[in-house]
Amino acid sequence: MLWSVSMRRWWPGKPQGLSSIATSPWAAAPSRLCHGPPPPCSALHPPRYYGCGLVIPECLSSCWILDLGSGSGRDCYLLSQLVGEQGHVTGIDMTEGQVRHRSGAPPHPPSNPPTLFPSSCQVEVAKKHIAYHMDKFGYRKPNVEFVHGYMEKLGDAGLADESYDIVISNCVINLAPDKSAVLREAFRVLKPGGEMYFSDIYASQRLSETVRRHRVLWGECLAGALYWRDLYSIAEEVGFSPPCLVTASPITIGNKELEGIVGDCRFVSATFRLFKVPGGTQAGPGQVIYKGRIMGHERELVFDANFTFKEGEVVDVDAEMAAILQSSRFAEEFLIRAGGANAAALQGCCRKGVKEKIRDPFQLLERLTAPGPACCPGGTCGPPGCC
Ligand SMILES: C[S@@+](CC[C@H](N)C(=O)[O-])C[C@H]1O[C@@H](n2cnc3c(N)ncnc32)[C@H](O)[C@@H]1O
Repeated sequence: MLWSVSMRRWWPGKPQGLSSIATSPWAAAPSRLCHGPPPPCSALHPPRYYGCGLVIPECLSSCWILDLGSGSGRDCYLLSQLVGEQGHVTGIDMTEGQVRHRSGAPPHPPSNPPTLFPSSCQVEVAKKHIAYHMDKFGYRKPNVEFVHGYMEKLGDAGLADESYDIVISNCVINLAPDKSAVLREAFRVLKPGGEMYFSDIYASQRLSETVRRHRVLWGECLAGALYWRDLYSIAEEVGFSPPCLVTASPITIGNKELEGIVGDCRFVSATFRLFKVPGGTQAGPGQVIYKGRIMGHERELVFDANFTFKEGEVVDVDAEMAAILQSSRFAEEFLIRAGGANAAALQGCCRKGVKEKIRDPFQLLERLTAPGPACCPGGTCGPPGCC
C-alpha cells in the first residue's frame, strides 16, 4: 500500500505577507519508497502541519525520540503512538512562550540567531494537546514532552548526551544558519547506534549571498537550503555514517521574480537517514537476511533508495550498510554474516552493468519521475527508481 502527503506552503513562523508565493515543495511527491500502512493520523488532534513530508522511520517500539523544531507537535504525537507507552518523544522548538526550561533557566539563543522567526508560541500550542492524545492512545501517563530551546544548543535545554535512539526533524534544519552545530548536537544526544532521520530542502549548488539574504526565499525555506553535497561532508565531520538517501520530491517555485533570483539553482525536498555507528564496529561487506518482523513492513523493508530487504532473501551489503545494520536497532531484525558479498551484486542503481549507490537527491528525483519501469530489464527489481 502506498501513501503520500501533500501540504500547504505556510507555517507559523513565516514572515508576514509571504503566503502568496507559489512554491510547491511537497506537491506530487513520488512516494514509491513509502511502502507500508499509513500512519495513524486519524487519531491525531486536528493538526497544524508545516513539515516537508513525514519523518516516520521503522521499528520504533519503546524508542526515545527527539524532534528538532517540533512546531505544533503533530509528528511528535504520531510518533508517541508508534513508540508505545514504554517509549518517549521530546519535541524542541525555539518559539517563545511561558514555557519553563527543563533546567529552570531560559535557554540561550544561538550566537547567530535567525531574525525572522516566530513570535507565535509553537511549544504552547503543542502542549495543549498532550492530555487529548494520551487519552486517545489509552496511555496512563504522557510519553510526550515539549521543551523550549534551540536545536543548535540542546545542552542548554537540558538534553543529555546519548539519551535518544532517534532524532527526527521535518523541514527545520534549513532554518538554522549553522547546520554543523545542529548535526553535532544531534550526534551528541544520540545513543551509540542511534539514527537521525530527517526531511529537508536541499539546493543543487551553494547559494549566493543574495539568495541567502532574501527575506521571501528564507520564509519559503529555500534561502537556508544546504547544498546537498555539503550534507555528506558535514555528516562525516561530525562522525555520522555516510547519509543514506531515502527519498526525494520536487520543489517548484512558480514565481517568475523568485525564479530569476535563484537563477539556475534547483531545489529538492529529501529525506536522509544518518547513523551514529560506534567506533570499533566491524566494517566489512557482508550478507544479511531480513526476518520480516517489523510491523507494517513484514514483506519487505525499504531501507533507503539503495537497499530494499525482502523477507527471507539473502542480500549482499557493503561495509557501510553492514556496519549500520549491525550497530543499530535493526540488528535484531536481520541475520547478518560478515564477508561473502559479491561487489558486483551489491544493491544500488545499475548503469552500464556497474552498480553504484544513488547519493544525489536530484538524481533520485529524476529516476523517480522518469517514465518507464522501476525494474532493471531482465533482472531482479532494484531499489525504487532504479534504471
Ligand atoms: C517549517 S516549521 C516545521 C514545524 C514542524 N517540524 C512540522 O513539520 O510541522 C519550522 C519550525 O522550526 C522551528 N525552528 C526554527 N529554527 C529553530 C531552531 N534553531 N531551534 C529550534 N526550533 C527552530 C520554528 O519555530 C518552527 O516551529
